[in-house]
Amino acid sequence: KVMKDISGLKDMEKKLEDVLGVSKAVVVSGDSDQYALVKNELGLACVREIERCLGAKNIIAVTGGSTLAAAAEMMHPLKKAHQDLLFVSARGGLGVKVENQANTICAKMAEKAEGRYHLLHVPDQLSDESYHSLIEEPSIHRVLQLVHGATIVVHGIGSAKTMAIRRHSGEEFLKRVDTEHAVAEAFGYFFDRTGRVIHKVQTIGLQWEDLFGARAVIAVAGGKSKAEAIEAYFKKGPDSVLITDEGAAQEILKNF
Ligand code: F6P
Repeated sequence: KVMKDISGLKDMEKKLEDVLGVSKAVVVSGDSDQYALVKNELGLACVREIERCLGAKNIIAVTGGSTLAAAAEMMHPLKKAHQDLLFVSARGGLGVKVENQANTICAKMAEKAEGRYHLLHVPDQLSDESYHSLIEEPSIHRVLQLVHGATIVVHGIGSAKTMAIRRHSGEEFLKRVDTEHAVAEAFGYFFDRTGRVIHKVQTIGLQWEDLFGARAVIAVAGGKSKAEAIEAYFKKGPDSVLITDEGAAQEILKNF
């Protein structure tokens, strides 16, 4: 039975790679919408993938969310004598629960991995004016340079509606999510079903364009409810490794 399950998951991984156009897909068994423990499996698979991507010098940028929080929970010592491990927050605070903020996750991952960390002490949604003065701030400027030079980016993907509500977006934006058919959200960017960016939260940190380039990108998202978001995000998404679960994978593959 176990052998059959494993080959079933392998099969889904291959199909997902084709359908989504990602260089690698990892599918863990179960549906994290139904069983909270599946999120830890996603977290563990994420830690393994980070380990696989390590080189001599590593700058690992991480975003927030409960899935990445699970990855921090599952982190273990990664540091070998010849490795330099620096974790940085890819984005500022999001006004969400502290355990799900990028800064909290970044610090926890670094501690458990036995690496160093730098945090981004800025609010997530900024006015034009604060944005321009903050990026000139030397301490912030230094962290931003590290974020832009990240060798590995690890981020979550959420559904647009859920994320708009979680960030306490106003009525007007919630309406836009509906009228412009936003279905996915990742690092403050909202995407429609075709993968087009329909909105971005003005903030300091990792930008969409930063993901296209010579670096490893690991996206971690699972649960049947995120299937549509995952599919949309990868329509125009950067080359990535996707870590997901059976719940999301089955729902995505149902149409193929
Ligand atoms: O808020 C940070 C973030 O990474 C979002 O960009 C993403 O949509 C969300 O978290 C995913 O959250 P969760 O893992 O809790 O579903």
